[in-house]
Amino acid sequence: MIDLKGKKAIVTGGGRGLGKAVALALAAEGVNIAITGRNEDRLKAAAEEIKKLGVEAVYAVFDAADEKATNEGIKTLAAQLGGVDILINNAGIGDFGTLEEMSSETWKKVIDINLFGVYYAAKAVYPFMKEKNEGDIVNVASTAGLKGAAGMSAYAASKAAVISLSQSMMAEWRKNNIRVITLTPSTIATDLTVGTLTDGNPEKVLQPEDFAQWVTDMLKMNRRALIANGSIFSTNP
Ligand SMILES: NC(=O)c1ccc[n+]([C@@H]2O[C@H](COP(=O)([O-])OP(=O)(O)OC[C@H]3O[C@@H](n4cnc5c(N)ncnc54)[C@H](OP(=O)(O)O)[C@@H]3O)[C@@H](O)[C@H]2O)c1
Repeated sequence: MIDLKGKKAIVTGGGRGLGKAVALALAAEGVNIAITGRNEDRLKAAAEEIKKLGVEAVYAVFDAADEKATNEGIKTLAAQLGGVDILINNAGIGDFGTLEEMSSETWKKVIDINLFGVYYAAKAVYPFMKEKNEGDIVNVASTAGLKGAAGMSAYAASKAAVISLSQSMMAEWRKNNIRVITLTPSTIATDLTVGTLTDGNPEKVLQPEDFAQWVTDMLKMNRRALIANGSIFSTNP
């Protein structure tokens, strides 16, 4: 297993939910952390919590759907950390509704954040990883991207596209010793799923800590091993 201590990770959407849980789990392994998002107060508070684990923690506020801001934000964070070894490409939104109900503006917003956001962040970290000839990129898709469902057209389409994008990324960047991992988690209790749980009980589904443990364990695999994709489900749906 690899010792992650001293590595540098950028976690998009790291102020809450799955991103924050992964940031904390990596920090517990000694990884220096940069988190991003739109809500500065939340990012500041999360960075303080991460620092308590004895690592560096910095943050940048930018909209994942804004290419220029993403490039600038990632460059600044890489300079602050002294490089980037790991990108957790996690920021995303869930906006649900039937095709008939959902406006085309909302549909486009979901694609802009969930698909273009992942593309922009990966492109922004690539030069750092290419130069070092090493890196890990974890692209967070969803089981929703494996099969479309009623009321989920924008979200499912964005995540299906992330899966394809991520597979192409792996095929292109593997030669640079960059492990691109495509994840398709099922329901995990966060703000994104609150209100969508069938029996309304968040205790019955996966918790952010489960996701964080899974991601951390994958990153600790010997570098000869690349987990190309993975799904995680709760035992009792
Ligand atoms: N929870 C699940 O069941 C589940 C299952 C499969 C996949 N996923 C995926 O996992 C990822 C994280 O989801 P989550 O459950 O942790 O959701 P969440 O609790 O709602 O958190 C979403 C995160 O993304 C950030 N974000 C959203 N829109 C952004 C934007 N335009 N620019 C920058 N940051 C933005 C948020 O930052 P701010 O707080 O600063 O806005 C927040 O940190 C998403 O890609 C989601 O699709 C979740």
